[in-house]
Amino acid sequence: MIRFGAIADVQYADRDDAIGRSYRASIGKFLEAAGAFAAEKVPFVLQLGDATDGGLKNYLAVQELLDVSEKAGVVWRHTLGNHDWGVPDERKKSVPADFNAGDDGYYDFTVVDPDDAANRWRFVVLNGNEISEYAASTDAERAEAKRLREASRLPNGDLPASWNGAVSDARLRWLDERLAEAEKNGEKAIVCSHFPLYAQSGSLDKRGAAAKLLNLDIYFTSLGVSTWNGPAILEILDRHSCVKAFFAGHLHEGGYGVRKNVAHVTFRGVVEAKPNAFAFVELRSDRIIVDGRGDQPSYEHRFDV
Ligand SMILES: [Fe+2]
Repeated sequence: MIRFGAIADVQYADRDDAIGRSYRASIGKFLEAAGAFAAEKVPFVLQLGDATDGGLKNYLAVQELLDVSEKAGVVWRHTLGNHDWGVPDERKKSVPADFNAGDDGYYDFTVVDPDDAANRWRFVVLNGNEISEYAASTDAERAEAKRLREASRLPNGDLPASWNGAVSDARLRWLDERLAEAEKNGEKAIVCSHFPLYAQSGSLDKRGAAAKLLNLDIYFTSLGVSTWNGPAILEILDRHSCVKAFFAGHLHEGGYGVRKNVAHVTFRGVVEAKPNAFAFVELRSDRIIVDGRGDQPSYEHRFDV
């Protein structure tokens, strides 16, 4: 069996509580979760973005927290979130490297079940901030992001949210290639992004209904939490039957929905969780089990193999 950890939206900042977010309390929750991951000796933990909430001081404090947890044995696999770019322009180019997320926040890796060599899973990590006004570090990049945002108007004419971004065409092709390779190797796949694409259940029913009215397959697009070109990502997922799940954060209330045999899991945000929210995830040959802790719900997704 493959078993690993998952956590989202720690959003630590030395800042007073606001809009339901307890920024300073995130340190204690993060350490509790890291302690649980270390105690269970999971091989790695998916950190689904927004580890900090902006400002260089908070950013560096989170880097120290990550270092401490690594010394305790936690192996992180980071996905970059929008708040992770709240640093001065001159620091932005090193954000992916600071989070060990490749040169530009995109990377993939394969995990093999120690008890069953046929149970192999490919993780493909996306950087949905790639083209955005906040991650841009030059005027030319900001202008390009602005142009693309204008060109990505929603069906109702609204601009998509400025705190989200887009995945470039080159990286969409890369995603397609990575999934094709996984399929060729007999691997199942999980795609990770800070920004959710789809969910339909629990407290999200109202949002789902709103999306239906707008005739959006990706209902989040209209609600300020999805990647500008989310439909292009979904089209790629649809082409590869090896994809069994899409993991995200960003929407702190979390969510879950199954679309075309793919479980879309949005993990609850630590910064708003009471008392905490994180999960252990198990990957078996016929199912994915999310074993939630604190107020992170648990789910079981049995997929067609
Ligand atoms: Fe976020």
